[in-house]
Amino acid sequence: ANPLKIAVIPGDGIGAEVMPYGVRCLQAVGRIFDVQFEFEEFDFASVDYYEKHGDMMPKDWKEKLSKFDALYFGAVGMPDRVPDDVSLWGSLLKFRREFDQFVNLRPCRLLKGVTTPLANPGDIDFYVVRENTEGEYSSIGGKIFEGTDRETVIQETVMTRTGVDRVLQYAFELAQRRNKKLTSATKSNGISITMPWWDSRVLEMSKKFPDVAVDKYHIDILTAHFVQRPHIFDVVVATNLFGDILSDLGPACTGTIGIAPSANINPSGTFPSLFEPVHGSAPDIAGKGIANPVGMIWAGQMLLGHFGYHEAADALLKAIENVLARSEPHILTADMGGKGDTKSLGEAIEKEILAMKS
Ligand code: NAD
Ligand code: IPM
Ligand code: MN
Repeated sequence: ANPLKIAVIPGDGIGAEVMPYGVRCLQAVGRIFDVQFEFEEFDFASVDYYEKHGDMMPKDWKEKLSKFDALYFGAVGMPDRVPDDVSLWGSLLKFRREFDQFVNLRPCRLLKGVTTPLANPGDIDFYVVRENTEGEYSSIGGKIFEGTDRETVIQETVMTRTGVDRVLQYAFELAQRRNKKLTSATKSNGISITMPWWDSRVLEMSKKFPDVAVDKYHIDILTAHFVQRPHIFDVVVATNLFGDILSDLGPACTGTIGIAPSANINPSGTFPSLFEPVHGSAPDIAGKGIANPVGMIWAGQMLLGHFGYHEAADALLKAIENVLARSEPHILTADMGGKGDTKSLGEAIEKEILAMKS
């Protein structure tokens, strides 16, 4: 088979610290399961690049990156140096939109050996399917009467039938392949135009999937259920903002957002999909070498699965699970209650992979 061409974009802060372990684990699993990769690293989509060039990315970024099968992305943002809206709208949000990665798939699983803050977690194993190109994240709006008492700011939520239906379809299909249960996050009691319409699109789509049981919760009580009975969920579909919030809350319920991965998918394959940890650049711990690398490594696992390398993907997840299940304090990072660091945990997973037989 042809090698998978992967653009490596480490970005800022801990993104750049966890990335090397993500790449090493992919290389390791590739060696054992005979998957070839061609990695090329890019320094743009970072605030360092911005400070040198006055922009987050070169003009021809899209041309450069379109040639790849996938983007493997760390994290962006250093709000003390560049405002977050500038750095993120200049990079990650551009990728998602211009590469039409309309599904943001975020698994949430309680792994053995990982301490959860929940008293009664049960068996947590669900996916958040987050709409990724429209919704509350829009650039339509503006400011008027700035600096006066009449100062007014408006930012519109945009939902399109095509945009919503395609992500719902993806979520229903995923539910159909899993436990045939789908939960929709809504807020149709308060957000009285877009969200009742979202509910109506869910209802309409559900008619095509009569074997999938559907329920819906308003986002406020849904967050409470995530904490109090997360085991009831299987596939949770949500708008861009609700999905963003749920996909930090879910992983926090399973111990730490440091382990959570994410796949920004362009299902047609017209453009490359992007695989990244859910977490950000974590300026508070950046430079210390203590970031949890599991989210980054697990994102690599999603990349393998996306391209149909299921054996390799399963093995990589198994390696993560094995290392975490041993729960060795000198290996685990501080966010998991350990005394280890990025290197100890990253190398333990790499070693676990290399000890496997194909
Ligand atoms: P964050 O995810 O960077 O950090 C939140 C908290 O979780 C911090 O205390 C951090 O130390 C901790 N944390 C995160 N990842 C960790 C890991 N792997 N190991 C151990 N601890 C970890 O979120 P934030 O503080 O809201 O954002 C920081 C910056 O990152 C901002 O510029 C923000 O816009 C950006 N951000 C980027 C992405 C992305 O690129 N995908 C995602 C979220 C936030
Ligand atoms: C995420 C992040 C981004 C988002 C930010 C950095 C714009 O929080 O990937 O979850 O809100 O989508
Ligand atoms: Mn987020």
